[in-house]
Amino acid sequence: MTLKPPPPQDFILVGATGDLAQRKLLPALYNLFLDGCLPIDGKVIGYSRTDMDDREFRELTAAAIREHSRRPFDSNQWATFSERLEFVPADPGGMAEVARRCIRSERLVYLAVPPSVVVSIVQDLAAQGLADGTRVVVEKPFGHDLDSAIHMDGVLHEILGESQIFRIDHYLGKETVQNILVFRFGSSMFERIWNRDAIEHVQITVAESIGVENRGTFYEEVGALRDIVQNHVLQVLALLTMEPPTSFDAEPIRDERAKLLRSIRPVDPAEMIRGQYRAGEIDGVGVPGYREEPGVAPNSETETFVACRLHIDNWRWDGVPFYLRTGKRLPRRVTEVQVVFRGAPLHFFDTSDMGPVPVSHLTLRIQPEAGISYTFPAKTPGPELRVEPVRMSFSYSDSFMTEPQEAYERLLYDAMVGDHTLFLREDGVEQAWRVVQPVLDETPPICFYDAGAWGPEDADALLAPRAWHLH
Ligand code: BG6
Repeated sequence: MTLKPPPPQDFILVGATGDLAQRKLLPALYNLFLDGCLPIDGKVIGYSRTDMDDREFRELTAAAIREHSRRPFDSNQWATFSERLEFVPADPGGMAEVARRCIRSERLVYLAVPPSVVVSIVQDLAAQGLADGTRVVVEKPFGHDLDSAIHMDGVLHEILGESQIFRIDHYLGKETVQNILVFRFGSSMFERIWNRDAIEHVQITVAESIGVENRGTFYEEVGALRDIVQNHVLQVLALLTMEPPTSFDAEPIRDERAKLLRSIRPVDPAEMIRGQYRAGEIDGVGVPGYREEPGVAPNSETETFVACRLHIDNWRWDGVPFYLRTGKRLPRRVTEVQVVFRGAPLHFFDTSDMGPVPVSHLTLRIQPEAGISYTFPAKTPGPELRVEPVRMSFSYSDSFMTEPQEAYERLLYDAMVGDHTLFLREDGVEQAWRVVQPVLDETPPICFYDAGAWGPEDADALLAPRAWHLH
C-alpha cells in the first residue's frame, strides 16, 4: 500500500481475545503497521472478559500473527509494534481504565462482539466520556432481526452520529468484491446485456469446508442465515444487480446498494432450504456433526447451510431467479458467482448431430483463485459440426502477480481515516433484514447433510431442472 498514515488516534479492540481478533484483526493491524498505515501515534488497547495483563496480551498477539498474518513475523518490526499494545480486562471499572489509558482525543473502537452486547458497551463508552472523538466499528450481524436492528440503531444514535458508526461487512473489503462494480461499469460490453433480456438466472455460492470451530456458542445465536446470507451474500447480490451510481463516492454507492436491496422481494419460506451438517469426511478426514461441536446444544435446530431463491422486483431483473447458497463443512472453500445467459434459439436448426449445446455463463471467482472467466460453446476440431464448452479466463494472480490484500486491512484503514464507502448504512442493513424476516418468523424445517457433501438434496431440487455449478 502507498497510503498516508491515518491521523493520530487510539485503537480499542473490544473482544480482543476472541476468534475474529486472533485470526483477522490483530494480524491486520500488524500488516498495516508494516505498511506504515497505522496512525503515527496512538495505543492499541485490547479489551475483553479474559483476565490478562499487557505482557500476556502481547504474547497472544504474537502467536496470532505467527499463525494468521499474510506476512511473516519479523522480530525487529514486532519490537516496535508491540510497544503500542496494552490490555484491560472487561470487569466493572474496566472501561474507566480504558479511558485513563487513552492518550489521544480521537479513537477507533472496534466491537468484535455478538450483537447482544453492542448497546451496553457503547453506553459504557459514553458513561466514561468517550463518545466524542470516537468512531465505532460494529461487527455483523447488526442486530438479530429487523426490529432489533432498528432498536439498536435508535440507541446508538442517541449516543453517536451516523458519521461515527461503521457497520462492517468484510466481504465489501475484498478486492474481488470491489471489482464487481469495476467489471460491470468499467467496460460497456457486459453492462449492455446485464438484464432480464440476456440473463436466464444467477447463482451465488459461499462455501466453506471448516465447521464452526470453537465458535459454537456464537454460532448457536446466529446460524448461517444471519452469519452469511443477511450480510455477505446480499451485499454481493446488491453489487451484482444495482444501478450505476452517480459517482464512486460513498453516498451514491450506498444509495444504489440500499435501493437495490429495497427491491428484493422478501424471501418466501417455501423457497428456502435450511440444512445442518452431520458427521462426515472432509478431504478423507472424519469430522464431527454440528450437534457434537463444543458450545452447541445436542438437539440444536440452528442451520449451518442455507439455499434460497430470490426475486428482484424492478425493471432490470423482473423474472430472473437468483439462487443463493452457503454452508459450512461443504467439500471446499469457494465463493463464486455464476451469471448464466439465455440459450441461443437453436430450435430453428437441426442440432441433432451437434451434441448438447452448452449455455454461456460468466463466473466471478471471489475466492480462492480470484478471477473472472467466460464459458461459451466452441466448435470442436474436425469435419463434423460438434460443440463443447471452452473458457476465456482472467486470473488475478497472473495479471497482477500478487494475491489480493486481506479485506480487514483495507477496512480498518478506511475506518481510521473515516471513509464510509465500504461500510453499510443503516437503511441498507434494515432492507437486508426485511428480505430475510419471513424465514425468521416462519422457520423452514432443518434438513441434514453429511459433512463433505454439497448440502442437503433439497437444495438441488430448489434449482431443478437447472443445476448448481462451480468453476
Ligand atoms: C464471517 C463469518 O463473517 O465470514 C464466518 O462469521 C465465516 O462464519 C467467515 O467463516 C468467512 O469469511 P471468508 O472471508 O473466509 O469467506
